[in-house]
Amino acid sequence: MRTLHRRKHAVVRAVGGRLAVPGVGGIHRRRTSAVALPVQRKAQSRPGHVQADGAHDRLRFRPTHQGRAAAYHGRWECVLHRPGRVRRVRGSGQDSQRASLRVTRAPRSTGTTEESERDMAGNGTVRVGVVGCGVVATAYYLPFLMDYEKADLVAVCDLREGRAEACQRLFGARERYADYYDMIDKADIDAVFVLTAPGTHVPFTLAAAEAGKHVLIQKPMATDMRGARAVADAIRAAGVKAVVEPSSSTALDPEYALLRDLVKNGVLGDVLWFSLASTGPTTYGPGLSSNPYGQDAFYAADSGGFLFDLPYAPTQIVSVLGACKSVSAQAKITRADHKIVPEEEYDKFLSHATDPRNANYWDVVVDLPRTQPVKMEAVDNAYSLYEMADGAQGACHVGRIFHPVLPGTGGGSLQIYGTEGNLLFGAGYMASIISTRTELLPEVEDDGWFHIRPRGDGSKAKWPQPTPGAFNYYHESSRHLIECILEDREPIVNVDWGLHITEMMAGAIESSATGRRYDMTTTLDV
Ligand SMILES: NC(=O)c1ccc[n+]([C@@H]2O[C@H](COP(=O)([O-])OP(=O)(O)OC[C@H]3O[C@@H](n4cnc5c(N)ncnc54)[C@H](O)[C@@H]3O)[C@@H](O)[C@H]2O)c1
Repeated sequence: MRTLHRRKHAVVRAVGGRLAVPGVGGIHRRRTSAVALPVQRKAQSRPGHVQADGAHDRLRFRPTHQGRAAAYHGRWECVLHRPGRVRRVRGSGQDSQRASLRVTRAPRSTGTTEESERDMAGNGTVRVGVVGCGVVATAYYLPFLMDYEKADLVAVCDLREGRAEACQRLFGARERYADYYDMIDKADIDAVFVLTAPGTHVPFTLAAAEAGKHVLIQKPMATDMRGARAVADAIRAAGVKAVVEPSSSTALDPEYALLRDLVKNGVLGDVLWFSLASTGPTTYGPGLSSNPYGQDAFYAADSGGFLFDLPYAPTQIVSVLGACKSVSAQAKITRADHKIVPEEEYDKFLSHATDPRNANYWDVVVDLPRTQPVKMEAVDNAYSLYEMADGAQGACHVGRIFHPVLPGTGGGSLQIYGTEGNLLFGAGYMASIISTRTELLPEVEDDGWFHIRPRGDGSKAKWPQPTPGAFNYYHESSRHLIECILEDREPIVNVDWGLHITEMMAGAIESSATGRRYDMTTTLDV
């Protein structure tokens, strides 16, 4: 049986017509019921008060079908919505502070500035154009945009016209284009989702910003600092919003916001060492841990190779440990010859697809024969020693381990060791913490650890389809960009994030080439 020895974080519940957030000694409940559905219904039907007792970092909200919530650094918010009825609860606080906040009706339309009011369609939606009708677009972004009531999918664009055609048919876009610059010129859109291969990310984003469009940029933002700086400057100069992927493992995910706050509060003491090594998913066959398709996206020189395919690693490190100070690295191409599934297989898949909510090519491609030879033209293996701004240091391997590992045997996840405790990802949990400072932990189980359990299906082929309760970063980042546009606020995973994460990877390349430590020129307030 699982005993909750401590429960210091707050749990949202309904008290009469109010939402209450009790503090220490409050309700003891399993974390999965932290936001109960009746609470949401009450909050939706009757505006009232929210009381927060304790710090934002102790508040833990969980996504549900009815509403969505998140705790960010320095502030927290809880969004409860149904089509046409949206309420937002927000606040901030410090330890021992008491916050009392009104539940208000969120604006149904437009941003707060005159310009954004003029720009938006005027009915509380953001008009979107998507460039790149590839695997990530059809599996994750387009199904979300099709369903999301605040998004209006105006246009899709792909060099390969058959793909744009298929996406128009499947996801209901009104227009389709083969030329991106044509779409930027002609389509009546507020925002562009750049979902093409990395080599296009910088020029496409610059063109979007110049045209005054908000942007979601798929990872990587750029494969060098020149490109990343150009993007950041253009976005700032244009005054548009940009969400820079990957947003997974960032404070957009409430579990990561919680972990960062716990680490900041000292649950690990001083961090002595951390390590992160990427390994292939355990369920893949030996040939499949390198990407099974996507010559332009993952193998071509301007793709950045597997190093820039996996900014998830530096993102996860920074999200938990804060900004990076320097990097010393060895980076190289380990294996030049690969085989991938021919591109035409994806075209075939799309032409036969009829269910827009189940057009995940990953489900299919991993089982198709790889017959097309392809050369790896960029770094596929990098080993970096990072020194973080707060003094922590650790090693990070990014690349592809070409054969599967057995569960629990590989170092395929972030492990952090501190003077007061350890934070380990994996071993059947999303993350676990053991600490001498148990009073800082939201709860401690019988085995002495605080565990965060995994959400949804963790395998690449299925992940991240919208498993109920799972954090789907593609969906959350899309939603986040659209809300930031409508409410005129700065995205959490913005160009500053993109610059810093890009520099951690570009710095590794430079350090490897020069044989010297690379000192970071950017920083982040995480
Ligand atoms: N596949 C994934 O699971 C995944 C996950 C996360 C991020 N990503 C990122 O998303 C991006 C796309 O990845 P993908 O897997 O969808 O690749 P993909 O090759 O399947 O898709 C890219 C699409 O962009 C189109 N395209 C290329 N150049 C174009 C141009 N100049 N104008 C218009 N269209 C153009 C291609 O025809 C293709 O359909 C990459 O940056 C990748 O790193 C992919």
